[in-house]
Amino acid sequence: MHTREALLPDAERIHELICSYSPDGTLLPRSLAEICENVRDFIVLEEAGQIIGCGALHLYGTHLAEIRSITVDRAFQKRGGGELLVQSLMSQAHKHQVSCICLFTRAPQFFAKLGFDVAQREDLPDKINKDCCVCPRYHNCDEVAMVKGELPRFAILPEPANWLVKLQV
Ligand SMILES: CC(C)(COP(=O)(O)OP(=O)(O)OC[C@H]1O[C@@H](n2cnc3c(N)ncnc32)[C@H](O)[C@@H]1OP(=O)(O)O)[C@@H](O)C(=O)NCCC(=O)NCCS
Repeated sequence: MHTREALLPDAERIHELICSYSPDGTLLPRSLAEICENVRDFIVLEEAGQIIGCGALHLYGTHLAEIRSITVDRAFQKRGGGELLVQSLMSQAHKHQVSCICLFTRAPQFFAKLGFDVAQREDLPDKINKDCCVCPRYHNCDEVAMVKGELPRFAILPEPANWLVKLQV
């Protein structure tokens, strides 16, 4: 079992893996178009030439990256694949000199074992601006925010503001 960077021909399988866990809200749904557009964020988990899992790392800046869309095919779970995916994405973040990795999850115990701590989503304004502010569950979010590393001291907000906002830490 090993991980590798995803390539465009992997997009359909990644889509299938994410779709198997999105109807019940475990994973955020991702369209095939969105996966193709962001395929360079993704890694895949392979065994015997077959893709059995995937995960993604979204970069906000050196202050923050987000682990997303982590999943392992049900038939291959509990054999270390999930941990391998998270470790590979953490090592990518390390290469980019990212000081904080965040994620939003309904499986906090899995990530706690890998060294992530529970955080407040308000500590992560980049994420709020990117996803939360357009999420219908904004006011009754049931995902747990988790971080590993130093909480960001600033946020880079998108156009039209295009501001670098310092946070009170
Ligand atoms: C979470 C998930 C990726 C774990 O994959 P996996 O290949 O079974 O994980 P691993 O075998 O690497 O497990 C690593 C450790 O985490 C534990 N673990 C696995 N899934 C867990 C879960 N849902 N909750 C708590 N602990 C979990 C394992 O028992 C193992 O602990 P151990 O080392 O003490 O034995 C997989 O269950 C999955 O795809 N779930 C659906 C999607 C999801 O919930 N993704 C994460 C949220 S974004």
